[in-house]
Amino acid sequence: MACRLAFRPDAYLCASRPRDVGGRSVAARYPKVSMASTVGTSSRILMPKKPFTPPREVHEQITHSMPSQKIEIFKSLEDWAKDNILVHLKPVEKCWQPQDFLPDPSAESFHDEVKELRERSKELPDDFFVVLVGDMITEEALPTYQTMLNTLDGVRDETGASTTSWAIWTRAWTAEENRHGDLLNKYMYLSGRVDMKQIERTIQYLIGSGMDPRTENNPYLGFIYTSFQERATFISHGNTARLAKEHGDLKLAQVCGIIASDEKRHETAYTKIIEKLFEIDPDGTVLAFADMMKKKISMPAHLMFDGRDDNLFEHFSTVAQRLGVYTAKDYADILEFLVGRWKVGELTGLSSEGNKAQDFVCTLVPRIRRLDERAQARSKPAGKMRFSWIYDREVMI
Ligand SMILES: [Fe+2]
Ligand SMILES: [Fe+2]
Repeated sequence: MACRLAFRPDAYLCASRPRDVGGRSVAARYPKVSMASTVGTSSRILMPKKPFTPPREVHEQITHSMPSQKIEIFKSLEDWAKDNILVHLKPVEKCWQPQDFLPDPSAESFHDEVKELRERSKELPDDFFVVLVGDMITEEALPTYQTMLNTLDGVRDETGASTTSWAIWTRAWTAEENRHGDLLNKYMYLSGRVDMKQIERTIQYLIGSGMDPRTENNPYLGFIYTSFQERATFISHGNTARLAKEHGDLKLAQVCGIIASDEKRHETAYTKIIEKLFEIDPDGTVLAFADMMKKKISMPAHLMFDGRDDNLFEHFSTVAQRLGVYTAKDYADILEFLVGRWKVGELTGLSSEGNKAQDFVCTLVPRIRRLDERAQARSKPAGKMRFSWIYDREVMI
């Protein structure tokens, strides 16, 4: 998963940017105009400050919102999932491994290969590294995403070695995803361009903070979330591949591209689950889709913290937006894609609530695009920001 790339669309719909962005003082929170102000509501609880977690806000916790009788739907889909979802996993022996793309430490040529990697990475700009590090940190918080999938009623892995199709999927999906963070982490380490200790600290903070996707133990909400996220990560890794190529690092482009192709396969699986739910329970599924979009899709690493910058995620997101790696337009594009993929506009026979949800979802894309255009028009000139991940060097935000 995990956007991945980690993204909050409101991150770039800011009414104002920090005034002093030249130094550490940017840590102060700054006001945001978010899409939530027009298309949704939220109530937040301020979490107590603890030495092992950063100061974070999470939403009011809602649990087990799916009616218990609907658990039967997922039980009845066991065989369907075996034939239609598990087929999107790749046999381990056919999977690429991080070592396929890294210097072989047992080879005579190891030091030369590392030298070459470091030479290539010298051509990559700092802002590109900020985005790549943010993507890598997002991938490295994988324990959180497996936990999130195992919060979902009716599909969770009840034992850790459950033989249901749902549990088999979740474990194998996690195992596939685990290669993403490993590969990016090792590449970054060998490049010598980034402060590994600060990155490792950020990962520890992030896994300790968890995530707040607001999926309420509800697999309808959960699989809508993962459908969105897999596509978001496919887009962002695809864009870092393109940029690496433009900067002349073809091997890194290959690394980002191969990760993007996994994300695409995962997107196919998750969108198929929701397609099936639309077939079985169109009313419940369209209500879940509208609910998730009203709450907005928070990005998996939205609670990231490096021990210094209280708005690290927003700052990382701003750089990703500026480089075109993941943007507000991508958020709207993903939604538009999903609405089309699931043929939401063609649903018939819905309840009056279902009809309202259908209208909401089908008219949301142009509203998001308008909000984005207004925010872009209002946006102030760019400033600079220091990132601990690159030894406090400044990049434009
Ligand atoms: Fe993924
Ligand atoms: Fe991934």
